[in-house]
Amino acid sequence: MALVTFTSPEYRDKTVYAVAGSHTQTLLKLALENKIPINFQCEDGECGSCLVKVSSIDKKIQRMGGPLTEKEKTVLKQLGKISGDQLETMIVDDLPSEWRLACQMIVRDEDIRVEY
Ligand code: FES
Repeated sequence: MALVTFTSPEYRDKTVYAVAGSHTQTLLKLALENKIPINFQCEDGECGSCLVKVSSIDKKIQRMGGPLTEKEKTVLKQLGKISGDQLETMIVDDLPSEWRLACQMIVRDEDIRVEY
């Protein structure tokens, strides 16, 4: 079980349980199941409307979901949230990205905070 806290300047924070280890549950699915009013359109990693900022509750672990998908890399670059250099560093040093697309990010067994 992982605890995911959704936070937005417009709504009250909401913390929900995520079933970890399914390897299929995206952050967007989890948000919708729990009636979190997160933005989305394509649900396919192309429009960028589901952009969120993710941080780990336990700073020591910092895994923050499955790795960036190719679609996420493309859209995050287009949105100017990540540069090619940053991306390379992340891959080489195995670092997570704080910017994610909720429809692409797979939830893992870790407690995270999601700003939307
Ligand atoms: S809903 Fe379009 S990128 Fe996620």
